This record gives sequence, structure tokens and C-alpha cells, in this order.
Amino acid sequence: MKPEKKYPKEVYLNGKWLKPDEAFVSVFDRAFMFGDGIYEVTPFYKGKGFKLKEHLKRLQYSLDQIQITFDAFSLEKLMLEAIDRAGLHNADAAVYIQLSRGAGARSHFVPEKIETSILLYAFGVTLEGFEKKTWHVMASEDKRWYRCDIKSTALLANVMANEAAISAGFHENLLLRNGYFTEGSHSSLFFVKYGVVYTHPEGPEILSGITRAEVINICASLNIKVIEKTVHFDELVEVEEVFVTGTTTQIIPISSITHHNKKVYTTRKDSLTKKLQEVFIKRTRR
Ligand code: PDD
Repeated sequence: MKPEKKYPKEVYLNGKWLKPDEAFVSVFDRAFMFGDGIYEVTPFYKGKGFKLKEHLKRLQYSLDQIQITFDAFSLEKLMLEAIDRAGLHNADAAVYIQLSRGAGARSHFVPEKIETSILLYAFGVTLEGFEKKTWHVMASEDKRWYRCDIKSTALLANVMANEAAISAGFHENLLLRNGYFTEGSHSSLFFVKYGVVYTHPEGPEILSGITRAEVINICASLNIKVIEKTVHFDELVEVEEVFVTGTTTQIIPISSITHHNKKVYTTRKDSLTKKLQEVFIKRTRR
């Protein structure tokens, strides 16, 4: 069964707070027509933003990469206002930010005069209890573009990968480029082999996950060795633990991986993942 998702009560759109059924953009909005926009999702634990600056920094990076002139850090106040207005100071929540290039007569080149469109809202999300979950996942070919470092709203390949997983009864789809694991359709990916943690290096093939960076940092604090090197499908036989991370995912161990209807991995251990979860909870709930 797919979880039911609800609209937020209110959204900020280009200077106004509106009910979702009152918030409209032009049919010529370039995020609508081309996926010409970028986004960010920032977690708030009981009203407190976690790694807010890092999320805004990544938003600024995406903006710079697609050459939208806008100061991401100017949105910090609005993010806090969104949490406030939604009455989410005592709950777990996230803030969604989307910046579109704006509306203009359709052309593949970017019109000279165009106004950035801003959408922002807070929504409640369950961030607690992830340590009790395990995910069964599938693996398939990574069919995304070669700039996965840009947090683009053009997520069709991610949507197709996730839909394939969810409709087949899996929790996530782990993506493979030329036989090497990149990441999940909406999560970063880690492997443990002989006590060493492996994750795909940053670059055009993955999103630089903020939770990923925090996990690497936690490993350093625990003297656990991390190698930012991609893992090949054939190495799965040596893998002891697999886990995925993300803002709404948190840290979840993978109990099995299915590829072409064949189970190619079942969990062997979970002790290292458990240790990371413990420290992560302490850091986020401080
Ligand atoms: N997704 N990789 C991909 C492709 C993602 O979409 C995400 C997050 C991550 C994890 O990044 P972070 O730890 O910074 O959340 C990795 C968000 C939450 C989303 O699209 O809703």
C-alpha cells in the first residue's frame, strides 16, 4: 500500500502565503515546461533546523550551476516562518523550497528577462522510529542524466525508478551505472565491507547528500574508516551491511536487494549501522 500524502495548509509563492488551491503559476513556468528549476528539502527536529546552512549552501550550488542569480541564504527567515505558521515547532517537519527559472514564452534558450519563481512550505514528517525499520529494495540501471549533483526538479528518472520499486512491493531502488552502485532513487547509499564503510564519491553521478556528509562525519568520530569509492555489483558477495540515508529517510538498513527478480544480497550484520543510528539520533535530537 502506498502511503497517503497530504497537501500542506499553506504555501509561500512569490511573496504571498496562500492556500494550496489558491497558489498558481503560469503554464509557461519553465519548471513546469522543462523541469528548469531546483529544490531543497531541509529537516526540522521539534522546530529546530538541522544543517540549515549546509542545505542552503547546496541550494546556492544548484542555483549557481544552472545560473539562476538568487541568494539562497535570504530564504532562511522564510523557512522559520513556514515552520511557525504551520504550527510545527513541537513536531518533526521539513521545509520544501523550489526555485523555478520563471515564466517565459517557450524556448530552449533562457529568455533574457525572466523572474525567478519561489515556492516554499513546511510539512509534517515522521523522523522518529527509523531505527526500527529495515528496507527490502531492488536494484536497476541508473537512467538519470550526468549532473545528479544538481538538485533539479527534473526528477522523472528518479520517479520512474521509485515507482518501479514501490509498485513491486520494495521500499527503494538502488541504481547501477555500468555495474557500479551510485545511490538510491531518493537516498544516498553506503556499504560495509570488512568493517570499512564505502560510499560513491561526490561528483556528477550522485547528489551530495547532507545526511551522507553527517554519516561520514559520525564515522570519523567513531574511528570507522570511510572510503569514498563506488562498489561494484559483483562485490555484493563480500558486503556485510548496506544502508541508505536521507533527510526524510534518516538511516535505514537494507535487509535484501533484488535484481532481475533474483535476491542478490541478504543482510549479514547490522551492528555498524546500529552504531551510526545511535549517534545520529543523539546529534539530531540534541
Ligand atoms: N531526497 N540522493 C537523492 C537522489 C535524493 O533525492 C536525496 C534526498 C538524497 C539524500 O540527500 P539528503 O541527505 O541531503 O536529504 C540522496 C530528498 C529528501 C527528496 O527528494 O525529497
